[in-house]
Amino acid sequence: MTGLRAPSGAAGSRLLGIGAYRPARVVDNDEVCARLDSDDAWIRRRSGIVTRRFAGPDETVVSMGTAAAVKALAEAGISPADVGLVLLATMSHLEQSPPAAPRIAHGMGAVGAAAMDIGAACAGFCHALALADSAVRSGTARHVVVIGSERMSDLIDPADRSTAFLFGDGAGAVVVGPSDEPGVGPTVWGSDGTGERLIAHEHSWLRARETRSWPVMRMEGPAVFRWATRIVPDAGRRALRAAGVEPAELAAFVPHQANARIVDSAARALGLGAHTAVARDIEHSGNTSAASVPLALEALRSRGAVRPGDTALLVGFGAGLTHAAQVVRLP
Ligand code: UT7
Repeated sequence: MTGLRAPSGAAGSRLLGIGAYRPARVVDNDEVCARLDSDDAWIRRRSGIVTRRFAGPDETVVSMGTAAAVKALAEAGISPADVGLVLLATMSHLEQSPPAAPRIAHGMGAVGAAAMDIGAACAGFCHALALADSAVRSGTARHVVVIGSERMSDLIDPADRSTAFLFGDGAGAVVVGPSDEPGVGPTVWGSDGTGERLIAHEHSWLRARETRSWPVMRMEGPAVFRWATRIVPDAGRRALRAAGVEPAELAAFVPHQANARIVDSAARALGLGAHTAVARDIEHSGNTSAASVPLALEALRSRGAVRPGDTALLVGFGAGLTHAAQVVRLP
């Protein structure tokens, strides 16, 4: 019997370009509080959020994801025709079928590329990046576009004190391609289904069909907060160890932007020094779920806090519960 040929690709993969799309409409805390029993000072103190963006009717998961992907490709200098795989991480594409990724692939000109949606909630981008790295190293794709795109404003109850002020909309993308040296470190990841109700829709689509009520997303904030302050430094430490990188060598720490207090607590627990730039995009983007890590990366870069070749620790965590982390070298 003839054996199967083993997959073979590049020795490593690396990030080649980053792109972001932020919706035009800026929403401040006072506007959110018009429908919420809260105030600007409380929101700033307990979450670090000052403003977030809400998408307009024409700013969809597909259109925002496409715009971010096009920018990432332009920066990478890669033609859409050379993209073999498009991975979209999202939790707010409100159509069970078809998946959004093929439409994004088509929109960016990656005609015929494999394309799929990845569902790992706010940890989705780091999961998709792990798959992109594997695809490039196994040779199933030479260039992969990884996108996080969200319209979280569609999922929230504007009067809910534990979610309404937190979430925002937007999209971020990276292009991953072949490299002789590893530019994406080993991913550490995991899940805990016992926490499935901590961040969850109020009820299922089946129930929504019967009751004609919109299944908004709810969160048990304090319980999620306690879990996040434990899992982020833990996953971060394991990702650093797996990549063989010391905290002192890190140029940037880019955790999922859920709450500025979680970001600060994790940075302290990891023992990061003043030389490590800590992403605080939460301040002006809110929590954009799967889009938050690439948006925060882009924000760090556009304010000159990181340079090409720097190492950054990425950590995603969210509903499921799910988490994933890896160290990357920046383009
Ligand atoms: O992206 C997925 C992962 N998500 C996260 O990691 C989010 C994790 N959780 C959080 O970020 C925080 O739990 C929240 C920001 C959601 C809430 O902050 P908190 O400090 O945990 O508030 P709490 O629910 O413990 O409430 C503390 C106090 C309570 O008042 P008393 O009982 O101390 O008098 C609440 O009634 O704050 C009150 N409160 C509010 N006050 C004004 C709760 N929500 C609000 C509000 N505005 N929106």
